[in-house]
Amino acid sequence: MSQKRLVIAIDGPAASGKSTTAKLVAERLGFVHVDTGAMYRAITLKVLQKKIGPQDTERIARLVESTQIALRRESGTMRVFLDGKDVTDEIRSIEVTRAVSAVSSLRAVRQAMVREQRRMGEAVSVVAEGRDIGTVVFPSADLKFFVIAGIEARAKRRQGDLLHQGVETNLTEIERAIEERDALDSSREESPLRKAADAIELDTSDMTIEAQVDFVVEHVRRMQKKHEAS
Ligand code: CDP
Repeated sequence: MSQKRLVIAIDGPAASGKSTTAKLVAERLGFVHVDTGAMYRAITLKVLQKKIGPQDTERIARLVESTQIALRRESGTMRVFLDGKDVTDEIRSIEVTRAVSAVSSLRAVRQAMVREQRRMGEAVSVVAEGRDIGTVVFPSADLKFFVIAGIEARAKRRQGDLLHQGVETNLTEIERAIEERDALDSSREESPLRKAADAIELDTSDMTIEAQVDFVVEHVRRMQKKHEAS
C-alpha cells in the first residue's frame, strides 16, 4: 500500500538545531529535505556578487525573476545550485550570513521563494525547514515543529561550524550576531519568524542530535500509523 504524502514543517531561529534535525529526519524517512534558508542564502550571494544594495528593491525583484535556485541530492548530500553552479559552501560565508536577513525580508524575494518551495512539496513527502514554513509556506502541514535552544548552546554550535570552515571566532561576538539576526527575522513585516499555534516545541539546548531526530521521527511514524489504520 502506498503511503500518504506528508509535509513536515520545521521552523526555528538561527543555530537552533533545525537544519541538522531536518536533514537527518529526511534521510531516515526517505523524504526530500527542503532547506529554505539555503535558498535565501543563494539569492543573497547573487545580490552580493552583483553588488546590489539591499535597499535597491526593484533591481533585486528583477534579479530574483531571472535567477534559478535548485536543491539537488548528489552522492548522498544535498547541494545548492545558483543558475546551475554549485554554491553549497559559498552560501555559508560570513558575508552571506551578514546580508541574508535583509535580502530575505523583501516581499519580491519571499514571493518567488515561497512559490518554488510549495512546488517542491507538491509531488513528494518533504521535510521543509526555515522561519515561515508552518505559518506561511505550508500552513496545513501534517506536522509542525518549532525548534529552539538557549543562546549559549546556539553560539557554541555556530562557533563549531565556523571552526570547521577554518574561521576562529569569539563566542560573545557570535552571540551578538545571532541575536541581531533573530531580531531582524522576528520583527520584519513579511513572514516573520513565529511559532505556529499548532507547532510542537522542541528545545534542543541539552539534547543530542540523535535524540532530536528520534523525537521528530517518532511523531511522523505515529502519524503514518494513524493514516494506515484509517
Ligand atoms: O542556518 P541558520 O539558522 O543560520 O539560517 P538559515 O536557515 O540558513 O537561514 C538564513 C536566513 O534566511 C535567516 O536568518 C532568515 O533571514 C532567512 N530565512 C527566511 O527568511 N525564511 C526562511 N524560510 C528561511 C530562512
